[in-house]
Amino acid sequence: MRALMLGAPGSGKGTQGARVAQRYSVPHISTGDLLRAHVEHGTDMGRAAETYMKRGDLVPDLLVAAVILERLVESDPAKGFVLDGFPRTLQQAQAAYGVAKETGTTFDAVLCLDIPRDELMRRLEGRGRAGGRADDDRAIIRHRIAVYEEKTAPLREYYERRGIFLPIDASGTVDEVTERIFAALDRLTESS
Ligand code: AP5
Repeated sequence: MRALMLGAPGSGKGTQGARVAQRYSVPHISTGDLLRAHVEHGTDMGRAAETYMKRGDLVPDLLVAAVILERLVESDPAKGFVLDGFPRTLQQAQAAYGVAKETGTTFDAVLCLDIPRDELMRRLEGRGRAGGRADDDRAIIRHRIAVYEEKTAPLREYYERRGIFLPIDASGTVDEVTERIFAALDRLTESS
């Protein structure tokens, strides 16, 4: 299984991506987690990324590409993966598709977690109040959602055209969303 988790901040990409990865015994690779690890370890890439992440802006493509490539070579991408948070722009998607076609590692499924904006705010403000991430502050959350709508939401159409797009209702409990995702993946596998 080579799957992409797509969705607005707070839609559950990390939570559900880990479950999908576990189901198919493939690595869950989150660009957000990789970047936060670089920040935490004070690497050059982390220092360069931190300014953008603190504001809720996207990190420049070259930096993200370096971080993700470093991780992808650790495991064999042909054996499968769940990518969470990459690609996030049309440019990233086009570049990734070029490489994936060459290496036979194109996505089997793009799971897009759909959820109303007020629920995103509720979840992320809740995590912020519980001492979660530095970017879970109301104004920054709003900005992250706006960046998603401008730069990442156009990927829906891009993947719809490729016939691998699976929209998922991401409201309800974590288990309910997982059930919907697994059912959608089962339908996809049965039809292929
Ligand atoms: P990233 O870490 O990817 O953050 P994000 O997209 O803002 O998404 P989140 O991680 O906040 O939410 P999620 O959808 O994963 O939901 P989660 O499962 O955590 O990116 C961070 C930053 O890195 C970006 O802003 C950017 O600067 C940079 N970056 C990353 N990738 C990049 C790229 N490709 N290009 C450029 N820059 C990049 O859940 C959220 C909360 O909700 C949790 O508390 C969870 O417990 C809770 N929750 C989840 N599901 C449910 C449920 N069903 N019911 C109730 N609560 C739930």
